[in-house]
Formats: sequence, structure tokens, C-alpha cells
Amino acid sequence: MAVTKEQVLSVLAKVAAPGGTALPDARVLSDIVVSDGKVFFSLTVDAAAVKAWEPVRAAAEQAVRAIPGVQSALVALTAERAAGRGPQPAHVASQPQRAAHPADKVQPGIPGVDAVIAVASGKGGVGKSTTAVNLALGLRDLGLKVGMLDADIYGPSLPKLLAIKEKPQTIGGTRLKPIERYGLTVMSIGFLIDEETPMIWRGPMVMSAITQMLREVAWGELDVMVVDMPPGTGDAQLTMAQQVPLKGAVIVSTPQDLALIDARRGVAMFKRVNVPVLGVVENMSYFLCPSCGTRSDIFGYGGARKEAERLGVPFLGEVPLHMTIREKSDAGLPVVATEPDGPHAKIYRDIAAKVLEQIKGGADAGRATPKIVIEA
Ligand SMILES: Nc1ncnc2c1ncn2[C@@H]1O[C@H](COP(=O)(O)OP(=O)(O)O)[C@@H](O)[C@H]1O
Ligand SMILES: [Mg+2]
Repeated sequence: MAVTKEQVLSVLAKVAAPGGTALPDARVLSDIVVSDGKVFFSLTVDAAAVKAWEPVRAAAEQAVRAIPGVQSALVALTAERAAGRGPQPAHVASQPQRAAHPADKVQPGIPGVDAVIAVASGKGGVGKSTTAVNLALGLRDLGLKVGMLDADIYGPSLPKLLAIKEKPQTIGGTRLKPIERYGLTVMSIGFLIDEETPMIWRGPMVMSAITQMLREVAWGELDVMVVDMPPGTGDAQLTMAQQVPLKGAVIVSTPQDLALIDARRGVAMFKRVNVPVLGVVENMSYFLCPSCGTRSDIFGYGGARKEAERLGVPFLGEVPLHMTIREKSDAGLPVVATEPDGPHAKIYRDIAAKVLEQIKGGADAGRATPKIVIEA
């Protein structure tokens, strides 16, 4: 029997808000999303009252989990900022408000995870997810224990790119166990939500979903976590940069001018929040004809390299536009894992080696990582 919204509301009626009102009457509930036994919603509360609401959040989650047929429940607590630009995640908002630069704060890391790197692009469709997956596998081939977080909650790609159909199990009813594939430890919102279910995310839900995937997943010991970021340079990116101590960001761009303008914005944004830019990858750099091997520079090859030079950030490499990459990628058989001796795998491994150099170099040079204090 499918779980319904009404069922969720009826159990929530038995959960009391801090003033004693039944939760559904407290005017804090977002829309309730029920999909395939997974239940999602958020409570948007006054920033000053976040502490009082946390037990309510937990009780709501527990009550929903107890409904027969519910496989998992994710209740996010988000805080409405007292003033200013509207809601933001509870962790950030519960802190006394001050006009702080992200660099004055100290962020909690993810226990067991040594370095978190973001793979980002100014816009969608440039091959960010494909690059992220193959980069992660390249890092794996360098002997690192690698995890992947799909933070692109608008268009999660990892279920498809890694052919993952199974749902994550919960550990002790609270933490989610990530999925293992090709030696990578993987988590995606796409594991919890049906691919066909269109999700409308309100700003605060975006960040709480990402925060929960960072903090309520049993990641284990990882040398590197590669985060597939949502495209663009909006609040989600900025907040993500403020949520975890990012070791650095890899920007993916195609060579066209328009994509480069977006990539430039991406570089500028990470610099603004003091996240080192590890470098730029030019994807779909040139076209390699699968039948004759002829190369054509259909997007005007070399744009990203020049742009990286201009911006003073490392250039990490160029990946051709190739049928094999697309076919393998879309079939959940990433080239680095399935054609490790092929030319494309080598390109990605070289990029991974440069990224690793950057990560290590950055640490040795004592490069400033953003320090963000977030008090729970
Ligand atoms: N180098 C490449 N050669 C051929 N196809 C590619 C390449 N990189 C990405 N693609 C294809 O382009 C499409 C978009 O890539 P994707 O990684 O999903 O982009 P994004 O995450 O930026 O939206 C996918 O179908 C993918 O297989
Ligand atoms: Mg993607």
C-alpha cells in the first residue's frame, strides 16, 4: 500500500510544536513529498527558535518512519533568517547574526574525510558529472579511497552514470549507508527520489538536503570526497562552500565563449569564498571521429586553457568529445572503470594526478582554506 500525504499529516498531528500546537497547525511545514516509500519535508522556523525545534524535527522524523510502508524519512529543519535575504540552513542561521565573511568562521569537517573537492561548472550540460565520475575513478586508480556526493539535487546524475538502482540502507534508523560502486563510496539524492518525480526544491530545502547527505551518511574513511555540484553560481554553491571545508574546486567548461563566461563566474565565486580553484578542465575540447579518428575543433579548441591562464588558475587537461565517453557514461559504465587501458582513461588519470598534486601542494603551502564557524 502506497504511503499518502494524508497519512503523514495524521501522524504529524500527534507531534507537538514547541508551543504545544499540533505540528501541522504550526505553519512551519513545507510541502510533503512522498515518493516510493520515501518521505521528505522541511520545517521552516524562526532562526532564534532552532534549538527548541530540533527535538520536534527528530520526533517528526521518527513518527513518519513508523508509518507502515515508509522506507525512509528525511525531515529538514531550516531557519528563517531574522532579517535579510530570506531563509537559510539552520546550522548557519542558528549562529548569532553578524555580517561575517566566510573566511572568519571555522567549519566542521566531515569525520573520516580528509579532503572534499567540488566539481563545478557555470552551466549545465558541459559534462560536469561525467568529469566528476571519471576524475573520482582516476583518483581511485592513484590508490586513494574516494567517495562521491551528488550535490546536484535538481538533476542528480550519479544513479545513471554509475548504474545504481538500489536504495541505501539505514544504519540504526538514522544514518544512511552509502552505495559502493567501482570502488567508490557514493551518495545521491537520486537514490532516495524517483528519477521521474519532478522535485521542486525551495531554497532552504536544497541546503538541508545537501547538509544531511554530508553529515548523516556513514561515509567511513575517505581520502577524497568528490562532490558533483549543481550547475551555476547561485546560493546553493555559495552555501555549499560554506557548509564544508572545501579543499578546492575543479571547474569544468567547454571551449565556447559562452561556457567560458560562466566558468569565469564559477572561478570568481570560489575565489570570493576563499576556496582554492584547483584548476579548469576543458571538456568536449575537440571532436574525435570514432570511425576515422580525424580530429575537429568544433567548439574552438583551447578556450579553457587560455581562460585558465588569464585567470591565473591551473589548467588540468582536455577531454575530447567522443562517442565512447558518451555511450559508456550514459550506460553507467564510466570509461576509467571499464576501459582502463584506453586513451580516455589515461586523460582522466592525468587530470586526477594534477588534481592530487594541487591538493597536496595546497596543503604543503599552507594555502588558506576557508574557515567557517558553524555552531549547531
Ligand atoms: N567528453 C565527452 N564526450 C562525449 N560526450 C560527453 C563528454 N562529456 C559529457 N558527455 C555527454 O554529455 C552529456 C552531458 O554530460 P553530463 O556529465 O551529464 O553534464 P552536466 O553534469 O554538466 O550536466 C551526457 O550525455 C554525457 O554523456
Ligand atoms: Mg550533471
